[in-house]
Amino acid sequence: MRSLRTGLSLAALLTGAVLLVTAPAAHAADTPLRDLAAAKGKVVGTAVTGSKLTGSYGDIAGAQFGSLTPGNAMKWGTVEPTQGSFDWTEADQIVAFAQAHDQQVRGHTLVWHNQNPSWLTNGTWTSAQLSSLLQNHISTEVGRYKGEIAAWDVVNEPFNEDGTYRPTLWYNGLGANYIAQALTWAHAADPAAKLYINDYNVEGVNAKSTALYNLVKSLKTAGVPIDGVGLQAHLILGQVPAGLQQNIQRFADLGVDVAITELDVRMALPADSAELAQQKADFKSVVAACAAVTRCVNITVWGFTDSDSWVPGTFPGYGAATPYDENYAPKPAYYGIAEALGGTRSTAGCAATYGVTSQWNTGFTGQVTIACTGTALSSWNTSWTYGAGQQITQAWNAICTQSGAAVTCTNASYNGTVPDGGSVTFGFNASWSGSNPLPAVTLG
Ligand code: G3I
Repeated sequence: MRSLRTGLSLAALLTGAVLLVTAPAAHAADTPLRDLAAAKGKVVGTAVTGSKLTGSYGDIAGAQFGSLTPGNAMKWGTVEPTQGSFDWTEADQIVAFAQAHDQQVRGHTLVWHNQNPSWLTNGTWTSAQLSSLLQNHISTEVGRYKGEIAAWDVVNEPFNEDGTYRPTLWYNGLGANYIAQALTWAHAADPAAKLYINDYNVEGVNAKSTALYNLVKSLKTAGVPIDGVGLQAHLILGQVPAGLQQNIQRFADLGVDVAITELDVRMALPADSAELAQQKADFKSVVAACAAVTRCVNITVWGFTDSDSWVPGTFPGYGAATPYDENYAPKPAYYGIAEALGGTRSTAGCAATYGVTSQWNTGFTGQVTIACTGTALSSWNTSWTYGAGQQITQAWNAICTQSGAAVTCTNASYNGTVPDGGSVTFGFNASWSGSNPLPAVTLG
């Protein structure tokens, strides 16, 4: 991992950042997804929640991904909850994080029918007023981040499933021309940003994707600034559309870029190992389809961890849709992405990952996650040696003993099993003083 460190820096102590050390098995030696993608001329990204960009979440987001998309932070309802009163806090936080980690930002989204502020949706507007509101919104937001956003999802989800226009606030008030106008205003505010139309259920060749195709073609002919098409790819386990690559290619042949903008693959919970293996195949085939087309430039997952996914909230009983589990352990799907980008895994195996989740002046809380891929465990035993006098005072979900600097933690009676593609986490409190260097963990 890019973030592998040997000790806690002063800055990390002050910010309470979490650092990870991974035992030298399984994924520790694997090349980060962002580097695999870069070697193929692609960018792999993730949607993020700004407030979570510290600790393990921030560590993985920074190390593995080459672009970030704010999951909610740049939507109109977030940035202008009250007319004329703006809140850029989370959007700024994500842009700053991306710049600090040499990442692109994909702006999401300027014109949509969801997550608009109530003052906008409840208002009564003439066409001229609506047009002016939209122009001001686009100019303000795109202008604020001019030069800092690689690509904008300018228009989101404009179509119905049958390929007719969705009857939204925008379509009803302004007609289909709102799309060309929005693109034109966005281009005026930041001529360097790539401008996209983004939609779901347009991954295969179907009525909806053909309507999008025809729209992009007519916009190009009319000289409207349109640079790309976003295929969201909120998919269901085992249902990657057969025509995905062909569909990507036909858009590319129009002279626009294509991005997979919101990839996830949901399944009924609980997930079993066969389903996780199918999910790996699904992620791999989506990424491979993009990798095969030169103008497919970006593959973004809609949240990288199952603990930060929209799926369970929207589809009760469904989830496990992302490449990392809820404890930030990579799932088979992670390796599906890596393999499609040319990555190889040295071995199947299990790894123990040590992290400090919070730290105060005399103590800290730590956690260790044991994750397996391609194999499983029926019991486990981890050990490490503290380098600066740290002393465990309490542990949970494991039986820990410490003798001098040597710590050994074994499974509790109820969590010895780590299935293929699964993980187990235990936690502990400990004291420290002076420094709190991270130990190397051995998994026995
Ligand atoms: O922020 C509030 C919080 O204060 C409150 O306590 C909580 C209680 O429900 O709600 C929080 O807001 C939620 C928001 O996400 C932030 O977490 C909303 O209820 C919830 O509806 C909203 O869901 C978002 C969804 O868009 C809305 O349509 C998801 O996070 C977001 O991932 C999702 O993203 C969309 C893309 O923008 C477009 N394509 C589809 C994709 C998935 O729906």
